[in-house]
Order: sequence, then C-alpha cells, then structure tokens
Amino acid sequence: MTDSPKLATEGLCKTYPAGGGQEEVTAVQGVDLRVGAGEFVSLVGPSGCGKSTLFGMLAGLVRPSRGRVLLDGTAPASMLGRIGYMPQRDLLMPWRTVLDNTTLGLETAGMSRRDARARARDAFARFGLAGFEDRWPRSLSGGMRQRAALLRTFLAGRDVMLLDEPFGALDALTRQVMQAWLLEVWESDRKTIVFVTHDVDEAVLLSDTVHVMSGRPGTIRMSLDVDLPRPRTLEVAASGRFRDLRDRILAPLRDEAMAQAGLS
Ligand SMILES: Nc1ncnc2c1ncn2[C@@H]1O[C@H](COP(=O)(O)OP(=O)(O)OP(=O)(O)O)[C@@H](O)[C@H]1O
Ligand SMILES: [Mg+2]
Repeated sequence: MTDSPKLATEGLCKTYPAGGGQEEVTAVQGVDLRVGAGEFVSLVGPSGCGKSTLFGMLAGLVRPSRGRVLLDGTAPASMLGRIGYMPQRDLLMPWRTVLDNTTLGLETAGMSRRDARARARDAFARFGLAGFEDRWPRSLSGGMRQRAALLRTFLAGRDVMLLDEPFGALDALTRQVMQAWLLEVWESDRKTIVFVTHDVDEAVLLSDTVHVMSGRPGTIRMSLDVDLPRPRTLEVAASGRFRDLRDRILAPLRDEAMAQAGLS
C-alpha cells in the first residue's frame, strides 16, 4: 500500500455527550484528512472549533463518535501509543528533572531509565537545552519548557507527531527563534508533523499544506498547498507569494470571526 497516506481520517466526528449540567457538544464533524509521509501539515481555526479534540482522536485518547483514523492505510484497533503527541499544555512533571521528563516516552516504551537517559542526553544540545539536564522544569523559561516537551515528543521516536500550539504561549521573538529551529529539525528528520496554531504566518512558514477549519462543529473549510521553496528560512515571510498565501487563509477566518461578532 505504498500510495496510502501516512495518516488519514475518514468522516471523523466527535460529539461530547451531555452531562454535569452541560449540553451535548458536537466538537468535530466529518473531518477527512490525508497527511503524506514526511509532510508538515497545519490546522488553523477559531478557538473551540475542535482542533484539540481532533488531535485527541488521532492520538487514541478521545473515542470518535463516527468515522475512523487510518495509519499507513489501515485502522488500528487503538491509536494509543502509535504516534507522538505534544498536548496544548506542556505537561512537564514538576517532580522530575528536565532530563527525566524527556525520557518519559522512551521509558513508557520499555527502555530502561539508564539507556533512556543516555539517549536523551545526546539530544539536549540540539534542542538548545545543554546544561539544563538536571534542573527542575520550573526553573526553565517558557521557550525552554516547550523545547523540553518537544524533545520528549521527538525522543518517543514515532514517525508521526501531533504538535498542539507548541509555541502559543511564547513572546514573538522567542517564537520566531523556535520556528526557525523547528524548520531545521524537520528538514533534517523529515518526520510527519501535524501542527495546530492560531498564527497564520506560522502555519504558512512551516507547512506543506494548511487546512482551515470552520467554527464549531469543526470541519475542514479550505485546504491550501504552500508552494514556497524548501528549505525555508524566516526571510521567506517577506515574499509576495507568502503574503498572498497568508491573505487567502486569513480571509475565511476573518469572515467567520466577523459573522460571529455580528459584523459583516
Ligand atoms: N472532554 C470534553 N468534554 C466535553 N466537551 C469538551 C471536552 N473537550 C472539549 N470539549 C468541547 O469541545 C469543543 C472543542 O474543544 P477543543 O478543545 O477541541 O477546541 P480547540 O479548537 O482546540 O480550541 P482552542 O483553539 O481554544 O484550543 C469546545 O466547545 C469544548 O468545550
Ligand atoms: Mg486546543
């Protein structure tokens, strides 16, 4: 099955049942996604449109109400542990050192802590964390915490990684540094990445394809191929082609936000 996408969804839906005084919520409706091996794909969409719910289903943590997730063309009984997942909050464990946070995925996969530590140590410099192995997460800056969480996700060694707004909480400058760094890491590793962001410039800069989601229930409203040359650097954002792509993605998002605010 060489022409199967690496990761795909067919008619994926999630309705959270009513309960605890809450009404039923349809978060995701009829999402068909195809992500080729080694592609970088982004999802952008308004807050609450179901992006994290979609990731939960891809990672096997949220049970779809309908539809299915395919990995290499087949639907596994469970997606749990099949792909790397960096949740929206970094979820570093405060009682483990930075090093021992990054080894979690390896240890869960059955590697001894000693071997996992050796493997992780080797990667610290590349993630800009050299010298911080034995610190506690609370003593890291926001950017470093995100890099530690990314390192943990990368070390888990899956071909596909889901990154849910990994740079969302960072200041503009740190964010740019992280984008440049992620471009480099992705160029050399060519993992398959699905990336959620609210930042349209970030989506265009990093991606091969950007999917724009509608407000809840989240569906894919528009998909755009980003035909900017690779390898890319931050300078590409100054090009006319970049601005054109960004404007085409912003237009449906702006329409939706205006409609929600009762403006036209
Ligand atoms: N466990 C849950 N139980 C019930 N409703 C939920 C649950 N998780 C999410 N929802 C609801 O599903 C909808 C989509 O939430 P989700 O977190 O997937 O959105 P999102 O696109 O990731 O938003 P954001 O951009 O703010 O992170 C929201 O209305 C949310 O309240
Ligand atoms: Mg979210």
